[in-house]
Amino acid sequence: MMRAEQILWSIPLSTKVRSAVFPVAGRGTRFLPATKASPKEMLPVVDKPLIQYAVEEAIDAGATKLIFITGSSKRAIEDHFDSDPELEQALTESGKDDLLRSIRGIVPEGVACIYIRQGKPLGLGHAVLCARVAVGDEPFFVHLADDLIAGNPPCLTQMASEFARHGGSVIAVETVPKQDTSSYGIVSVDESGRITEIVEKPTPDKAPSNSAVVGRYLLAPEIFDKLETTGRGAGGEIQLTDAIADLLGESPVYAYSFSGKRFDCGSKLGYLKATVAYGLDHPDTGGAFRAHLRDILDD
Ligand code: G1P
Repeated sequence: MMRAEQILWSIPLSTKVRSAVFPVAGRGTRFLPATKASPKEMLPVVDKPLIQYAVEEAIDAGATKLIFITGSSKRAIEDHFDSDPELEQALTESGKDDLLRSIRGIVPEGVACIYIRQGKPLGLGHAVLCARVAVGDEPFFVHLADDLIAGNPPCLTQMASEFARHGGSVIAVETVPKQDTSSYGIVSVDESGRITEIVEKPTPDKAPSNSAVVGRYLLAPEIFDKLETTGRGAGGEIQLTDAIADLLGESPVYAYSFSGKRFDCGSKLGYLKATVAYGLDHPDTGGAFRAHLRDILDD
């Protein structure tokens, strides 16, 4: 519980968020066999892998340090964000300028990629703690690429604006059906939107609300000290949610209802929905795809 005499710490409003952390060590078992030798974050939605959408969102929000917390069989992610002189040469020679631009522009100049191996699969909290050495003593984004969010402006950019308004940590939330609370971190908030309680994957009868954390966080660096001492929680893993719960009394954390549409690309159905939505929206495929869907639905 908050006590009146507590001195609340908050981040200077002018602070820019420069680091984005992408925990990408998970095996993606829900998509086996597709993810046996290829990272789940490399699953494409139309013509870009999920992790590229993630990186573009972070760069739009101002991040210049992209920190990937990786595990075994994730080399394809490093290759994807590296330059490929042979491919560039081939595209130049064949005059495919659009494609050349599409691969050259993935990581703009001035943006650095850092890869850190998470030696053991100890959970999301542990993955975020692995980023400490690269983030330093600054606020940072955490982006879970499974949660693809179509938003304008993109979700992290909305959260950076929210952060500039009050200087506290910001966590994106959305309302979920009560029966789904056991798949999410669940929060309750006070009248100012400040989180008063956060619980990892509670059963519906134990959930404090049906306001669920989605995979976007803007966190104060004090979270790292909390993570250092966070024990194993739900599922036997070190949970980011538990460290955030520990932070609540010392540093303000706000729930943010983003504007946009989230697709849970960690599930097959969510991934298919994302593919349909982005396929309909894509300039190369939209018109013909819409006509095709109409045809098959009319049959
Ligand atoms: C993680 C977090 C959970 C959050 C969810 C959003 O769970 O632990 O609090 O609600 O991401 O996607 P995961 O889906 O990795 O099990």
